[in-house]
Amino acid sequence: MNSCTEKRWRASAHNVAYQTQLFHDGRENSLENQVWGPLLAKNEMANPSIGFVIDKLKHLPDYRGRFERTFGGSPPTVETIGMALASYERVLLSGASAFDRWRYGNQSDALSGSAERGYRLFTGAARCNGCHTVGDDHALFTDHRLHNTGVGYAASMRDNSGVRKVLVAPGVYLEINRQAVADASEPRPNDLGRYEITQDPADRWQYKTPGLRNVALTAPYMHDGSLPTLRDVVRFYNRGGVPNEGLDPMIRPLGLTETDVDDLVAFLESLTGGNVDVLVSDAFAAPIGDTGD
Ligand code: HEC
Repeated sequence: MNSCTEKRWRASAHNVAYQTQLFHDGRENSLENQVWGPLLAKNEMANPSIGFVIDKLKHLPDYRGRFERTFGGSPPTVETIGMALASYERVLLSGASAFDRWRYGNQSDALSGSAERGYRLFTGAARCNGCHTVGDDHALFTDHRLHNTGVGYAASMRDNSGVRKVLVAPGVYLEINRQAVADASEPRPNDLGRYEITQDPADRWQYKTPGLRNVALTAPYMHDGSLPTLRDVVRFYNRGGVPNEGLDPMIRPLGLTETDVDDLVAFLESLTGGNVDVLVSDAFAAPIGDTGD
């Protein structure tokens, strides 16, 4: 099977067990159902149908008897494949970051001074925790809700006219006609967020608040990967997002200094789990199934 390339998947499957809404527009609410999205999506694993996946698993020698043994005699089906993948995702838990040790483990030297100041900003003047919730007994950094920060609006409004300077080698720019690029590319799919599910105009450009654990490892950022670095994300918030009719009232210019920006980035970097290396090597240690491509 092809590897997953879409941003929503790269956005990390760690700690999905705690998510109540999945995908950036919240279209699925159970992991068991969600797994079929990437399995079938044309731009992800591109399997032609559910039946195709089921047949393929049934015929792979590695899987012979495994589903039957695990699911009380049931072969691979739409339900048991969903359950198997969801159970795997639920054990991808990542914690014990420097932040956790500092905040919940009484290890006062686990955070740098800069990251600690970043945390104060995050929960104070910058009010990031209005959406990326963190409290005395929980720190998933998401309110499980959808908000309009202006990212989707900006993508919808992006202008295809004029020329764009593209860096092709260090110091070498080419001027590219935007319309020529658009003509030669596949049309960009609509980017309307929650609206695509509800058809309610008030939901336009609303996306799920992502949790921020391991965020330093999952660039680029936002549902469309439009911001390359964490610093770009913090600067985006500092400017007040992208103003539009439905902009969330919590998104407004913050007046942060460059040092404040550095501190917030240092804090976000402190959210990388202590066990990430182990999770990654576990995942690679067990080649199974169709590893031929
Ligand atoms: C009004 C709610 C809200 C507030 C306030 C908010 N965020 Fe977000 N944040 C979101 C949403 C929604 C997204 C996803 C946007 C998208 O995908 O287009 C997001 C995305 C992000 C991402 C990218 C995560 C990824 O994996 O792509 C980072 C990092 C982030 N926020 C950090 C912050 C910081 C730092 C602050 C404070 C300066 C902040 N947020 C304030 C709702 C909020």
